[in-house]
Amino acid sequence: MSTVIKGGTIVTASDTYQADVLIEGEQIATVGHGLSGDTTIDASGKYVIPGGIDVHTHLDMPFGGTVSSDDFFTGHRAAAFGGTTMHIDFAIQPKGATLRETLDIWHGKANGKAAVDYGFHVAITDLPDSVMDEIKQCPDYGVTSLKLFMAYKGALMVDDATLFRAMQQAAEHGLLIMVHAENGDAIDILVNEAIAAGNLEPKYHALTRPPELEAEATERAIRLAEVAGSPLYVVHVTNAGAMEAIQSARARGRSRQIFGETCTQYFFFTKDDLARPGFEGAKWVCSPPYREVHDQQALWGAVASNALQVISTDHCPFWFEGGKDGRTPGKELGIGNFAKIPNGCPGIEDRMMVLYTAGVRGGRFSLNRWVELCCTNPAKLFGCYPQKGTIAPGADADVVVWDPNASYTITAAKQHQRTDYNLYEGMEVTGLPSVVLSRGRVLVQDGEWKGEQGAGKFVRRNRFKI
Ligand code: URP
Ligand code: ZN
Ligand code: ZN
Repeated sequence: MSTVIKGGTIVTASDTYQADVLIEGEQIATVGHGLSGDTTIDASGKYVIPGGIDVHTHLDMPFGGTVSSDDFFTGHRAAAFGGTTMHIDFAIQPKGATLRETLDIWHGKANGKAAVDYGFHVAITDLPDSVMDEIKQCPDYGVTSLKLFMAYKGALMVDDATLFRAMQQAAEHGLLIMVHAENGDAIDILVNEAIAAGNLEPKYHALTRPPELEAEATERAIRLAEVAGSPLYVVHVTNAGAMEAIQSARARGRSRQIFGETCTQYFFFTKDDLARPGFEGAKWVCSPPYREVHDQQALWGAVASNALQVISTDHCPFWFEGGKDGRTPGKELGIGNFAKIPNGCPGIEDRMMVLYTAGVRGGRFSLNRWVELCCTNPAKLFGCYPQKGTIAPGADADVVVWDPNASYTITAAKQHQRTDYNLYEGMEVTGLPSVVLSRGRVLVQDGEWKGEQGAGKFVRRNRFKI
């Protein structure tokens, strides 16, 4: 069974050119002219890009007294509708569990549900010597990145000794260390002070997590990684100070060791969104929080200049009005106490179109850089390139036919993400996926779902090498 995508303009991280793409089975067989196959997809007037890869997601994740509202089917369907055909989720180690047990729990969540391909990072919360020793087996488990939280004291946070030991082990075994960089000890004090003072509205979430505490933790993680000799990837960078810590490490010769990601939403929202009337601001509660307009500008500059290498989503949706009609509890858990609002926002469906609109059409970065930030760099940094993240013979046929002229107004009423709001409500985007293929199978065509639960596969990733 073969498919040819005909007459489109292929866009990779490095090139833009006219050609047909012949898919045989699950892989791209040939890229060339005058190709034919059993089925033809007309891509004239459209771009043909690699499927988006979102390396920062939290599907079906127990967190903040509830569980994120998208599971491995609803989240995958939403991803596909947005042109994303692979993601890497965080398997969070329950205290006392081995890494194998942790991964088995997350495989159990995905098995039979997955509709796009996926991988796992393992998030270490508990590092006795036995788990320290188990780290070296992660590549055999198909997992080559470890995440550690420097925040969420009393829940996910680890101390510097744990972080440093994990870095040493990662350095020895070719794993990439990822950090959520905020100073959890200082934040804990500020949160308790705010509560004691009766400052309980959603906006205090942002006010108790100032940007300096993200910049400090980012710098600390970088210095620890430099001493340990491990590669480091800082997730969800939100502000100029944290970004500059990464930029300056890379400038002093660490550009093959220190990497950073930001997330789509940090370009668009500020801490003022958390001060919207009533409890509305809870929709924008995530960590680290939204910052200032000057930080947004710094982030746009950073992704264009390669100070940051990836844009992901940190997709971690919760219902705004949860806990009824079969919904898991959501943001309402924090009415009357901002510290109890589940942290996280939806976005896996929105990323590619919002960034195409504001990034490419907005003149902030090129078409090729959009592909590099959203598809190619994620695959390279996380050990699955060139199987994923490019259009080339031998690559998996995860391909998106992108219509640069189609428009849509984003609204929760039409989204596929399983939540009752959308951060970008009312935003008009131009540039949408018209056909989305995963390993040669059509998942979405002209707005219609054609995918299948259980067809998505776990992607075993290679050790870090750049
Ligand atoms: O608020 C967020 N970001 N929730 C998900 C967990 C994390 O910190 O990435
Ligand atoms: Zn985080
Ligand atoms: Zn996250």
